[in-house]
Amino acid sequence: MPDAWDDIAPAYDRATRASRAHRAKYARLSALVREARVERLLDLGCGTGLLEEHLFDDGYAGSVTGVDSSAGMLVLARAANLGHDARFERVDLARTLPFEAAAFDGAVVVNVLFLLDDPLAALREVHRVLTPGATLLVVAARPQAREQGASGARRGDGAPAAGWRRFWREHFAGATALEAAREAARVAAALPALRATARFRARTDAALAASGRALPGPAEVVGLLDNAGFTLASAEDLPGGESRLYRCERR
Ligand SMILES: C[S@@+](CC[C@H](N)C(=O)[O-])C[C@H]1O[C@@H](n2cnc3c(N)ncnc32)[C@H](O)[C@@H]1O
Repeated sequence: MPDAWDDIAPAYDRATRASRAHRAKYARLSALVREARVERLLDLGCGTGLLEEHLFDDGYAGSVTGVDSSAGMLVLARAANLGHDARFERVDLARTLPFEAAAFDGAVVVNVLFLLDDPLAALREVHRVLTPGATLLVVAARPQAREQGASGARRGDGAPAAGWRRFWREHFAGATALEAAREAARVAAALPALRATARFRARTDAALAASGRALPGPAEVVGLLDNAGFTLASAEDLPGGESRLYRCERR
């Protein structure tokens, strides 16, 4: 079945490549994967394979399996021809992962968790397919001040996260998003990629502000990780200040 991400894939890829903050994010992730001496990496919600490109450019010598539910995102990931150490598979993270227990010794989940209806169940699946002691790196957007204000009263009952997922479906994966993506694609055809990024982001930020929805905060993310069997080793804000990177060990 086609996915909203299929339509947005080219614009997403272009906008993300043009963003200095995103490039810095992949560089940091790549450094941490190599530092942890990961040999069999699983990238959950790999999108267009941008992390994979950075990893191999940086001399990563292991293998990586990128999984994503969007065929359109995967077409672009495969088009990079990263060699036989990079495999891309269509997998829905809402289901049981099609891998054996302990099949991987590292995993990354980059800007994906908040899209899932049941992130805890997905993280428990990640736990199952990792070896004990494996490294898990999670990147999650940090709630902006305005959203924290809008959602503060509802924290604790799960509403902010559910609200954010609804927002994402309605505004990013829905009509507004497709319109924004098409506009970004048109702009990008005529103007430098950087301009496309700015327009793309301005539209999605405006939709977010209008919704008054909230992203899951750091406490919620850390709670999920702990419940799924991961011990937090460190957390850091990424360049640009919009995302936080959580480095964990599988218990
Ligand atoms: C914001 S993008 C991040 C992509 C990539 N991790 C990156 O850093 O560029 C979110 C990705 O999650 C994928 N996704 C959303 N829901 C999913 C699900 N249920 N199962 C698998 N992938 C999913 C989308 O197709 C999209 O590629």
